[in-house]
Amino acid sequence: MPARIIDGQAVAKRIRSEIGGAADDYVKRTGAMPGLGVVLVGDDPASAMYVRMKRRACERVGIRSEAQILPAASTQQEVEDAVRGFNEDPAIHGILAQLPLPDHIDEEAVLSQISLAKDVDGIHPVNIGRLGMRGREPSFTPATPTGVMILIDETGVPVEGAQAVVIGRSNIVGLPVALMLTNANATVTICHSRSRDLPAVVKGADIVVAAVGRAEFVKGDWLKAGAVVIDVGSNSVPDETSEKGYRYVGDVAFESARQVAGYITKVPGGVGPMTITMLLANTLKAAQRIADIKQ
Ligand code: GUN
Repeated sequence: MPARIIDGQAVAKRIRSEIGGAADDYVKRTGAMPGLGVVLVGDDPASAMYVRMKRRACERVGIRSEAQILPAASTQQEVEDAVRGFNEDPAIHGILAQLPLPDHIDEEAVLSQISLAKDVDGIHPVNIGRLGMRGREPSFTPATPTGVMILIDETGVPVEGAQAVVIGRSNIVGLPVALMLTNANATVTICHSRSRDLPAVVKGADIVVAAVGRAEFVKGDWLKAGAVVIDVGSNSVPDETSEKGYRYVGDVAFESARQVAGYITKVPGGVGPMTITMLLANTLKAAQRIADIKQ
């Protein structure tokens, strides 16, 4: 039997509708909207597009968004000042520094400036440290990994005691999702470009999270029958049949994988819609905490 599709679009829609209701309630109670501040440095088209998508998503659920768009040649001080400006602004409850920052900017120093109460991206070094330590609670968890955990939860397959394999070890996806799976009591293996015999490692996994950034990298015959497969990838590949000349595919070879997996996400329509949704959820949570509204 082919895998059941985990419909990230539908889950995201349901959660966004709840966020919209809670944001309305927040406005009624406080007279102000929850606010997200975004710092974007430089003119990378993909980053500019993500920032536009975040702004639109905010507008739709009743969150105010403000972007500080700085030139690529900005100094460290100027970028950090933009973050500090949002820290001090009472109308801003959540702050996101769009990554990647230009090479000459010290990313860790910028992220360290974000107030922990406003770190809705969950990537302040203290929050990542807390995520990885037992008995510590980060103020927020990063958006994409949080979305991944919700999609796994949707399947009803228990994470506790499961063998989970995460392919990719990026700061914003692979590492935090591995920590979150560990915190949910999975036995986690992190794989990467230097891992030996990846297919054999993946074969042992009840849960596979593919976040490697390579088109259709994970093949169906690598998978254990019935596995939960979460595809975080979004890779553009040439496609003459499409008007644009390209289409997006994930890190998993979907057609072969769906014949083996128990549950699988699609690309697009899987993890993607969850990422911005979790950012909205964290921004609302930040505003509610600052206003001391019970969540
Ligand atoms: N760039 C791509 N994804 C992300 C993300 O989740 N957070 C930030 N800050 N930058 C990104």
